[in-house]
Amino acid sequence: MKIRITILCENLIGKLKGSGEHGFSAFIETDQGNYLFDTGSGRSIVPNSYVFDKDLKSIKKIFLSHGHYDHTGGLSEVLKLKGKVDVHAHPNVFLDRISVLKEEDKEIKRFIGIHYKKRYLESLGANFVYNTAFTEVDKGIFLTGEVPRKTPFEKPDPRLFIEEDGKTSRDIFLDDQSLILDTEEGLILIFGCAHAGMINIINHVINKTGKEKFYAILGGTHLDFLTPEQLEESIQSLNNLEVEKIGVSHCTGLRAAFRLQLAFGDRFFYGCVGSVLEV
Ligand SMILES: [Fe+2]
Ligand SMILES: [Fe+2]
Repeated sequence: MKIRITILCENLIGKLKGSGEHGFSAFIETDQGNYLFDTGSGRSIVPNSYVFDKDLKSIKKIFLSHGHYDHTGGLSEVLKLKGKVDVHAHPNVFLDRISVLKEEDKEIKRFIGIHYKKRYLESLGANFVYNTAFTEVDKGIFLTGEVPRKTPFEKPDPRLFIEEDGKTSRDIFLDDQSLILDTEEGLILIFGCAHAGMINIINHVINKTGKEKFYAILGGTHLDFLTPEQLEESIQSLNNLEVEKIGVSHCTGLRAAFRLQLAFGDRFFYGCVGSVLEV
């Protein structure tokens, strides 16, 4: 399978083209059709699709990594162009998500879930297809489903919660899933935010596919929110794996990105808006 992946939405621009925003989206072109993984937070996906000449009307399927606004906010804009399309996600994707952040000694609570009702997105053409387990969504393309948490050093982000029936509880992100493309050069793994833990996800993928060779690892790794010790453990685990290219984005953060560049040299690139990976 021939593949070209273009980062459509991301926090940073690097090519003096397109717009940056807090969020992530990757446009995937293959010889069996085009796909969209995540949709950014809403402002940049359509304008950037024109800048990078990617036809959102051509997409065969949409995949949502999890129910945060910065990955799902552009869904309505895409649907307004595309109309009817399958949107693959975990059934928990519509849970009410909140973050509680300390700002100048005050705790600020924000809604960070999907801003739209499911019915509204369906009225624009979304056909939600839910999965909880590892699933082949098209030939050679897989979603991880729920990822077992096994590593001791990848802890859930303590600032993120869900609200259900008036009760607030820690968000354990059962809906966090990543996309896998099986290529002749090895697997390509794309994270949304990797809330399940980057190494947990990689181990789950190895387990489910029986393959250990990764051509590329892309997307948001959430490494920005780990302690320096946890970051070192993640990098050491990554070092023990067969990974040809590491092209992270979004919630990886610049501190962790610099550290990855140091560790992986030419195998590392920052996946800013407009970055392309071809196989
Ligand atoms: Fe994110
Ligand atoms: Fe997230």
